[in-house]
Amino acid sequence: MNHKPVAVITGASRGIGRAVAISLASEGFDIAAIARSIDSEGMGILNKEVEKKGVEFFPVGLDISCTGCQTEVVSNILERYGRIDILVNNAGVAPLQRNDLLEMTEESYNRVLNINLKGPIFFAQKIAKEMIWLKQKIVDYKPVIIFVTSVSSTLTSTNRSEYCVSKAGLSMASTIFADRLAKEEIRVFEVRPGIIQTDMTVKVKDKYEKMIHEGRVPQNRWGIPEDIGKAVASIARGDWDFSTGMVFEISGGLNINRL
Ligand SMILES: NC(=O)c1ccc[n+]([C@@H]2O[C@H](COP(=O)([O-])OP(=O)(O)OC[C@H]3O[C@@H](n4cnc5c(N)ncnc54)[C@H](OP(=O)(O)O)[C@@H]3O)[C@@H](O)[C@H]2O)c1
Repeated sequence: MNHKPVAVITGASRGIGRAVAISLASEGFDIAAIARSIDSEGMGILNKEVEKKGVEFFPVGLDISCTGCQTEVVSNILERYGRIDILVNNAGVAPLQRNDLLEMTEESYNRVLNINLKGPIFFAQKIAKEMIWLKQKIVDYKPVIIFVTSVSSTLTSTNRSEYCVSKAGLSMASTIFADRLAKEEIRVFEVRPGIIQTDMTVKVKDKYEKMIHEGRVPQNRWGIPEDIGKAVASIARGDWDFSTGMVFEISGGLNINRL
């Protein structure tokens, strides 16, 4: 049994997931980092950053939408460490093309929903069952599951409806997991980012730049992946011990309904 707590982060090779992994490494968690490929430049960068913090790095290849592949991944992590203390369900994609709702294809809908919603739900289900069992074995074990959703779970974009639907579904999944798992002493949180500077927003950088410049984001700046990393670290440290099912919106005030 590993003496250090263990964090599992999906979509850890870049962007928000990588910043979350580095934050959790700073908090003393060993890091099981999931992405589709473990050989990417991003995983190499993360490996170095995590090891600088004096914790272990375990790269794991998994396409999160492959629910049939998830069991083996969970087994491999448990075989190596004997515990999972925090799961951050972060992996997610935008549609390959932004199409108007009336032109949305079934293919794009299925791709986005399988990666952003079905994959994380069944991954969380598998890990939650292990956490319930691990509670019997580990002293002072305080497991946590986090779902990274988006402001798009409540804000509409008619040219990427499948993304909005996937994130609205994931937001409800987070609440349902929180409800079901409260009695198991597993706490569940939704982390809801706003407009964050990552590969995901590169294609629409100018559009968002203009929106931010025109005041759409009350705090008047882009979010950076580290903004999300800090929030997840605060949850992982136990700062929110008597809470579950909460939404942490990290969006520079996009949550404010302005007149
Ligand atoms: N950026 C934003 O403005 C923003 C705003 C709100 C919410 N979010 C959400 O935050 C999360 C992270 O977004 P990001 O901006 O950091 O995106 P990103 O820079 O594009 O990174 C996405 C991550 O997910 C991984 N990934 C993609 N498809 C995967 C799959 N099928 N299976 C496993 N891993 C997969 C990627 O790794 P590989 O490509 O190496 O597999 C990468 O590590 C997403 O859920 C996104 O919806 C982002």
